[in-house]
Amino acid sequence: MVNFHILTLFPEMVIQGLHTSILGRAAARGNIAIEAVNIRDYTTDKHGKVDDYTYGGGAGMLMQAQPVYDAYQSVINRIGQDKARRVIYVTPQGKQFHQDMARQLAEEGELIFLCGHYEGIDERVLEEIVTDEISLGDYVLTGGELAAMVMVDAIARFVPGVLHNGESAQTESFGDGLLEYPQYSRPEVWHGKRVPEILLSGDHAKVDAWRLKQALARTMERRPDLYEIYIERHPPVEKNPRKC
Ligand code: ADE
Repeated sequence: MVNFHILTLFPEMVIQGLHTSILGRAAARGNIAIEAVNIRDYTTDKHGKVDDYTYGGGAGMLMQAQPVYDAYQSVINRIGQDKARRVIYVTPQGKQFHQDMARQLAEEGELIFLCGHYEGIDERVLEEIVTDEISLGDYVLTGGELAAMVMVDAIARFVPGVLHNGESAQTESFGDGLLEYPQYSRPEVWHGKRVPEILLSGDHAKVDAWRLKQALARTMERRPDLYEIYIERHPPVEKNPRKC
């Protein structure tokens, strides 16, 4: 069970997006819980302002420390001061997110995501509350919400009970370090293209061997970086090992 807390200026966006489909059902079953905390609710400014100009000049506004810190404290007060938690600031300046990170974060009980907007967030509050800075990739989004949603989705898939039979986190791309093999459903012929004969054979060992071969070929072609790592970890077995 992971409790996700998302500190954001756009709570509807996050809640709508994450309470749909598989994650929505997982939340209804209690495998995960997702809450969005509206940072604006915590500003002490009487006009509801949460941003201001940056010291030193420059274009754009910066989210101020006070509302972010108070929104964070509201979560801490609810979950308990002594509860272990990771506080993830989603930012293009962070470490790049990947599948192993998702798997590890799924072992945490409480995950707090902080979504920035405008030109970012006052550094002082980041220094006080953030444990991890994570980026989705080398591009800049207009805000952290989409990045946080992607990360929550990828993490939640590793939480026990979230995926059911057939929705396996193991057999898919990256499950074993390879991209996934191609898959087919009915009909057997579509637009003149036949489903590969071996998949109709009922011979599970042969199907598995075919799938592995396809996954290897696909990974080598599309992601040579992943292929190299896989081959280092799974060196090809010599057919006729010489005796010493
Ligand atoms: N916020 C804006 N761009 C981002 C990115 N690439 N990753 C994470 N958070 C972001």
